[in-house]
Amino acid sequence: MSKGFKVGILGATGNVGQEFIKVVVERKFPVSELRLLASGRSEGKLMKVGDKQIKVIEAKPDSFKGLDLVFVSVSTEMSKAFAPIAAAAGAICIDDSNAFRMDPGVPLIVPEVNMDDAKTHKGIIAGPNCVTIPLVMVLNQLNKVNKIKRITVDTYQAVSGTGIAAIEELRVQTPQVLAGEKINPTVYPHQIAFNCLPEIDVTLANGYTNEEQKMVNETRKIMHVDDMLISCTCVRVPVFLGHSEAVHIDFEKNITPEEVRNILAKAPGVKIQDDMKAHLYPMPIDAANKDDVYVGRIRQHNTLKNSIALWLATDNIRKGAALNAIQVAEEMARRGWLTPKG
Ligand SMILES: NC(=O)c1ccc[n+]([C@@H]2O[C@H](COP(=O)([O-])OP(=O)(O)OC[C@H]3O[C@@H](n4cnc5c(N)ncnc54)[C@H](OP(=O)(O)O)[C@@H]3O)[C@@H](O)[C@H]2O)c1
Repeated sequence: MSKGFKVGILGATGNVGQEFIKVVVERKFPVSELRLLASGRSEGKLMKVGDKQIKVIEAKPDSFKGLDLVFVSVSTEMSKAFAPIAAAAGAICIDDSNAFRMDPGVPLIVPEVNMDDAKTHKGIIAGPNCVTIPLVMVLNQLNKVNKIKRITVDTYQAVSGTGIAAIEELRVQTPQVLAGEKINPTVYPHQIAFNCLPEIDVTLANGYTNEEQKMVNETRKIMHVDDMLISCTCVRVPVFLGHSEAVHIDFEKNITPEEVRNILAKAPGVKIQDDMKAHLYPMPIDAANKDDVYVGRIRQHNTLKNSIALWLATDNIRKGAALNAIQVAEEMARRGWLTPKG
């Protein structure tokens, strides 16, 4: 990666977009031009990029000309509108929205799990949901050793997963609740401060929410395991940053917690925090602003045979979105699948 890439960040002013800027600078991603794109509301806004200030420009159909790579972090509707235009202009788009994840022609990539799939891209590569990424990083390593038949996952998802407006809603509501003031939820259907909401995204005919169904579909697509049985309950909790998951895994054959610990200790991007005597286990406050997926509470399931229970936490904006997309681009460049134009 000697030469820099011409890079666009679509949705640069958002939660994930700001993390893209941070991670690009931190990892010294080779950039010869950085174009920050957002809505007309942000036109002209100056954003700090390392020691420089770059002006945001309004995303329009002709905004992507000459770019090698576009990191896309806008709503599903906006991604559907802009990513095909950017791809047609010759850029590779790595999209963090839900727009293309289940499109059979679009690879859905977690570099530690299925990087080879990225080679088939036709201009757009999707990044999975922020709860799917840490889950498959853990499951894939275990599945290689002992086939997984079924999983049950309950998530504890931070408000930052909803976007900047939700962070503000929790920040405003918290002192209001403590002061006994009236709460007026706008982002969520109920008060989020000091509460838990078992409803993320729309509810489907089968009674599961779309967020839960996304975890099922995306896990199967990334791991190439159409027959894996998966049930999820996704819950929004009053945490600012960091998603956690309680995962119950049924294997084909018996496996001990020690074996699971040994396998995951060698898994790329995974760190074990598992010592109950020292009260050591993953927590969102520790996972925040870190790259890795943290795993602990690894134990034998007490009612099911061949089953393990564990707990994980990860930074939903970082590995759950921006970092994962940048790692895809880095690995593509390393493999010679992404080269600067001209
Ligand atoms: N947050 C997470 O944990 C997470 C994880 C994985 C994936 N994602 C996905 O990433 C995407 C972005 O999420 P987020 O949390 O960053 O949302 P966000 O904080 O609400 O940011 C949304 C971004 O979209 C831009 N935008 C809105 N309307 C636009 C338009 N008409 N043209 C161009 N840009 C427009 C906004 O620009 P303005 O500031 O100008 O309005 C802003 O930069 C979503 O699809 C989300 O599902 C999020």
